[in-house]
Amino acid sequence: MKIKNICCIGAGYVGGPTMAVIAHKCPDVKVTIVDLNKERIAAWNDKDVANIPVYEPGLSEIVASARGKNLFFSTDVEKAIDEAEMIFISVNTPTKTYGLGKGMAADLKNIELCARQIAAVAKTDKIVVEKSTLPVRTAEALRSILDNTGNGVKFQILSNPEFLAEGTAVTDLLDPDRVLIGGDTDTEGQEAIEALVQIYANWIPRERILTTNVWSSELSKLTANAFLAQRVSSINAISELCEKTGADVNEVARAIGMDSRIGPKFLKASVGFGGSCFQKDILNLVYIAKNYGLHEVADYWEQVIIMNDHQKRRFAANIVRTLYNTVSGKKIAFLGWAFKKDTNDTRESAAIYVADDLLKEQANIAVYDPKVEEGAVLYDLNYLHTRSAEDNRKGVKAYADPYEACHDAHAIAVLTEWDEFREYDWQRIYNNMKKPAFVFDGRNVLDAERMMKIGFVFCGVGKAY
Ligand code: UDX
Ligand code: ADP
Repeated sequence: MKIKNICCIGAGYVGGPTMAVIAHKCPDVKVTIVDLNKERIAAWNDKDVANIPVYEPGLSEIVASARGKNLFFSTDVEKAIDEAEMIFISVNTPTKTYGLGKGMAADLKNIELCARQIAAVAKTDKIVVEKSTLPVRTAEALRSILDNTGNGVKFQILSNPEFLAEGTAVTDLLDPDRVLIGGDTDTEGQEAIEALVQIYANWIPRERILTTNVWSSELSKLTANAFLAQRVSSINAISELCEKTGADVNEVARAIGMDSRIGPKFLKASVGFGGSCFQKDILNLVYIAKNYGLHEVADYWEQVIIMNDHQKRRFAANIVRTLYNTVSGKKIAFLGWAFKKDTNDTRESAAIYVADDLLKEQANIAVYDPKVEEGAVLYDLNYLHTRSAEDNRKGVKAYADPYEACHDAHAIAVLTEWDEFREYDWQRIYNNMKKPAFVFDGRNVLDAERMMKIGFVFCGVGKAY
């Protein structure tokens, strides 16, 4: 079966870039991305392609190449479902904030809504593809909704987890390590898998397209993220030990990374991992393990999160301790708010938690991030419900200029590894700060020696200075 029409529900960080690349690489396939959020769709359709709502290097060029030709953004969900032979579900599945599984299980409300809508609208057979990260056996729930409320049409359900990392989405999509497609083992299931393989085979070598059963595919996604996050927590655990013993975590990471069994990637000690996936997916894994009564398995993976929370908290505590145990009324400048460089996504960013701890100590926080505006910063803090929105507004201000953010500050905290931070006129920043001027580099991006030569009191992660 050759697919001519694809619909993707959810125009976010996953759906947007993934579908833009599919459209770019498959000019014969019409790709329509739909979303309930009107503003978001309007932004994707903005005449000036620089205003699309997701910032990723290279993305606006890809969107510009296909938009209006075979790539469309719309709020008409029903029409897009009706026309498509293949429907990707890329809606967000945040951790539940209420009821059973609160704080652990994935909230599948959006997924269920999509399934019900597909069931109600579909008049012809469809292949439904899970793109969002989902707990294992969600496909079963999807199938049950589709089969029991549909108009007698046949649905095939595939799992095709996304492995792109934000900030490198376009290159990850153009040249992925692998594409994973899970489907039923019967003939119809295998035909559906083949239809999706055909799409990716337009630009990805066959040997990198793996096919498995649905459950293996779903569990592989959770496992990949758990392993990656575990590496970060492992090196962060060692970073604290380095600070006490006189070792340097960067040297340790280099030394162990040269062992080909360990490998050099994902060993950067930091203020802690963020992003929409790692914590959510591990919590999911923990919740599933607990449900099966596998308490040791659950505890093992939960420790990765516990370590990450500790790393964020001790970074904030170190700032307070170093600034003579009080930051009350002091201006602390944050360089970076996004959870990593080259993205405007701030979900679960370490900056949010560090800011929250410093606000509890009555600090004034001045934020500069090249891609994040004040509205997003305040939204993130309000989402924690630690204090009123009014109090967050009083305690935090965002600046469009890094030099202004740092002006008269007692300390600077680097929370994101944006490249431009290295290029600043640090002498000028130093001259305009309160003395002694402190820098807490949560990402080890600045040249410590140069900073200390200028006069800064410098603290990085994983080394005692
Ligand atoms: C992750 C997975 O990498 C991706 O495959 C999956 O599809 C979604 O989740 P993402 O969350 O976009 O991607 O970013 P990633 O590059 O994995 O970084 C996650 C967090 O870990 C960031 O906050 C990053 O700064 C931090 N990190 C990463 C470190 O602190 N140290 C490292 O060595 C690597
Ligand atoms: P992700 O990182 O998983 O892509 P985002 O939050 O960036 O997450 O994107 C998910 C998108 O899915 C949001 O724009 C949201 O409005 C959209 N969405 C959620 N539920 C539905 C639904 N039932 N129908 C259409 N769009 C939806």
